[in-house]
Amino acid sequence: MKYGFFDDENKEYVITDPATPYPWINYLGNHDFFSLISNTSGGYSFYKDAKYRRLNRYRYNNTPTDDGGRYFYIKDGDTIWSPGWKPVKTSMDYYECRHGLGYTLIKGRKDNLEAEVLYFVPLHFTGEIQRVKLKNTGSEKKSFKLFSLIEWALWNAEDDMTNFQRNFNTGEVEIEDNVIYHKTEYRERRNHYAFHSVNHDHSGFDTDRESFMGLYNGFHEPKNVLNGRSSNSIAHGWSPIASHYFEIELKPGEEKTLIFILGYVELPEEKKWESKGIINKAPAREMLSMYDSDEKVDRAMMDLADYWNELLSKYQIESRDSKLNRMVNIWNQYQCMITFNMSRSASYFESGIGRGMGFRDSNQDLIGFVHQVPDRARQRIIDIASTQFLDGSCYHQYQPLTKKGNNAIGSGFNDDPLWLILGTTAYIKETGDFSILSESVPFDNDTSLSKSLFDHLTVSFDHVINNLGPHKLPLIGRADWNDCLNLNCFSKDPNESFQTTENKTEGSRAESLMIAGLFVVYGQEYVNLCKFLKKDDEANRAQSHVDEMRIAINKYGWDGEWFLRAYDFYGNKIGSNENEEGKIFIESNGWCSMALFDKEDKKVIKALDSVKKYLDCDYGIILNYPSFTKYYIELGEISTYPEGYKENGSVFCHNNPWIMIAESMIGRGDQAFDYYKKIAPAYIEDISDLHKTEPYVYAQMIAGKDAYKPGEAKNSWLTGTAAWNYYAVTQFILGIKPDYDGLIVDPCIPTSWEGYKVVRNFRGVVYEIEIKNPDKVSKGVKKIVFDGKNLESNKIPVVKRESKHKVIVTMGN
Ligand code: BGC
Repeated sequence: MKYGFFDDENKEYVITDPATPYPWINYLGNHDFFSLISNTSGGYSFYKDAKYRRLNRYRYNNTPTDDGGRYFYIKDGDTIWSPGWKPVKTSMDYYECRHGLGYTLIKGRKDNLEAEVLYFVPLHFTGEIQRVKLKNTGSEKKSFKLFSLIEWALWNAEDDMTNFQRNFNTGEVEIEDNVIYHKTEYRERRNHYAFHSVNHDHSGFDTDRESFMGLYNGFHEPKNVLNGRSSNSIAHGWSPIASHYFEIELKPGEEKTLIFILGYVELPEEKKWESKGIINKAPAREMLSMYDSDEKVDRAMMDLADYWNELLSKYQIESRDSKLNRMVNIWNQYQCMITFNMSRSASYFESGIGRGMGFRDSNQDLIGFVHQVPDRARQRIIDIASTQFLDGSCYHQYQPLTKKGNNAIGSGFNDDPLWLILGTTAYIKETGDFSILSESVPFDNDTSLSKSLFDHLTVSFDHVINNLGPHKLPLIGRADWNDCLNLNCFSKDPNESFQTTENKTEGSRAESLMIAGLFVVYGQEYVNLCKFLKKDDEANRAQSHVDEMRIAINKYGWDGEWFLRAYDFYGNKIGSNENEEGKIFIESNGWCSMALFDKEDKKVIKALDSVKKYLDCDYGIILNYPSFTKYYIELGEISTYPEGYKENGSVFCHNNPWIMIAESMIGRGDQAFDYYKKIAPAYIEDISDLHKTEPYVYAQMIAGKDAYKPGEAKNSWLTGTAAWNYYAVTQFILGIKPDYDGLIVDPCIPTSWEGYKVVRNFRGVVYEIEIKNPDKVSKGVKKIVFDGKNLESNKIPVVKRESKHKVIVTMGN
């Protein structure tokens, strides 16, 4: 069952039933100021950091779900309703929510009154615009009342939910010219405030929550809305809010627009005050003047659309499959930008206070994003690398505001360093900018320890070879990519974190086949980079280690039908036929297949066949099989989840593309695309009621075949799935792959496809690539004609003769 439809023309998902199976959200904002907004206008905004600069309050895991947002209440006679349905939930004559790229448009209609609210964050603006258009669609005059509501958070989102003995005393506001200023803690160490304004005289306001809502009333029944008047309350402590109140009259057909702004201002210390106790409002006034008319708002929306069209134009596909087009051209790219911006910090499943930017996550996010805004990718790589230690290990996470490594989680995840090689080489291949390698980059954020970024790659590589176990395979540390495979943890204490506790490391033999495969793939990438840079000695040194790892995988990593997952602390096999549960895992089979595909075809084909046989299900490829049915102390968190959920046997979408990539490497295009379709959201829109999360973005996990409810997804938006699936489909299935000196064309597609077209903007030049498949093959390029001339290889050279080039590719054996 569906709850809406894709409007591809407008690049929107249109929700027509507000009671979606879970709040379906969108992200507003592009750089520093961000908002999360649900289809019923719930959510919150923050500046740069969802923990330290939270503007408005949101209650996670609340009941009813998704309470708190930017609400509008209409009191029309005795009827009270909200255009976004929530919080009042009065049924309307019409409801529609259009989630578009960087904006959300919610429209409600009741009793001949239409209210349309446009929410967006303009480019280069630290605030959210909320434009309310009210229209009398009937034939009689309408008099009604409108109230707005924002509940302020007291900046630090964690403290805001815990430290009430202090917080109930600190709230302070100022009101001037229809603007409500939230200046809590400004008198002391903060140099920032927020405001909620409207470009029209209000008839009243409230800034104290209890005065507006009533102590025992919920968001759906604020006392002042029920009574039809505001109380002009001034908050002193407790819970400050911003509510504007209007009495409005509309003639038949008449329309009225109100533009609200939720803004954020930061001031230098010497300019904080206008006079004693009165905040300096000049920057706020300037912000208000930027969007005080409909025309200015429309202009900003056009700029936003241009911005997105430009970003998306870097890779556009035209095929007969509209769902594929929709994913590749719009939604997958969009999600990649969001994961780049947010990492794993703020979503409806990530509270914004726990995890900052992940070292491995952010590097992987780059592969789906780097073609869009390479400059930002460059800075991100440097920020990430700055949190690395001299020995190549690195902080697992860092805080976006300070860019400093997070001590609470520390380091010790032994896959982390390798992803820096992926992120950096992906950036150079996209841009040709080798200069990034000479950038001086600190270790542990200490500039006295700076070395070149290239040196950071070297220590990343060396960290693996300096930490090998008894089978010459990489030691796993606290965990590898699978944060829940904690082979040194041995925890019996429920108060311990699986991620940060190692009750055994001394004498540990725990080794990871996943890191082994990863090392061969990105170690080889490092070798290739060295060769390209003519650093031959380093290339030779590194190559010998990569070759040794290949030998070790072959010797100790093969179980007969698939690759092992790991060796545990005692040196016992994990992910082996010998195990009772967790006999086979996806990660090592993906990475070892990618690592060995050119040399050891037979093993690779066998491994991928086993993946199909044991791990594939209707909803994607599950992580491990059979799922664990009890806690294994030697395995850690993975065995704590009920069967079929999260790292214990769910379809953990992030790693499905690893198998798609391996399948396309060996030329099985039908299989690769079949896996793609199983998890790509546009293809499963029809089962939205089961799937639960948004049909336009990937979720981290979908309950697997051993679960109570297979097919049900959780944790949408902030997942490495976005980047990996984009990478898999654009570079391996559709097969347009940037390289240091050109664009490789190497598709691996279903045999039924006759062809498709890709427009690729690469290093400022547009390549119009037409792929023809007359022989209905999956893989193989017979001929490439580049601007009318035959090419010798399947690499399109980087040329700047024209701003546009035509490439005709004929597939065949
Ligand atoms: C984390 C990743 C991790 C994955 C598997 C995600 O929630 O963000 O870093 O690789 O889970 O455990």
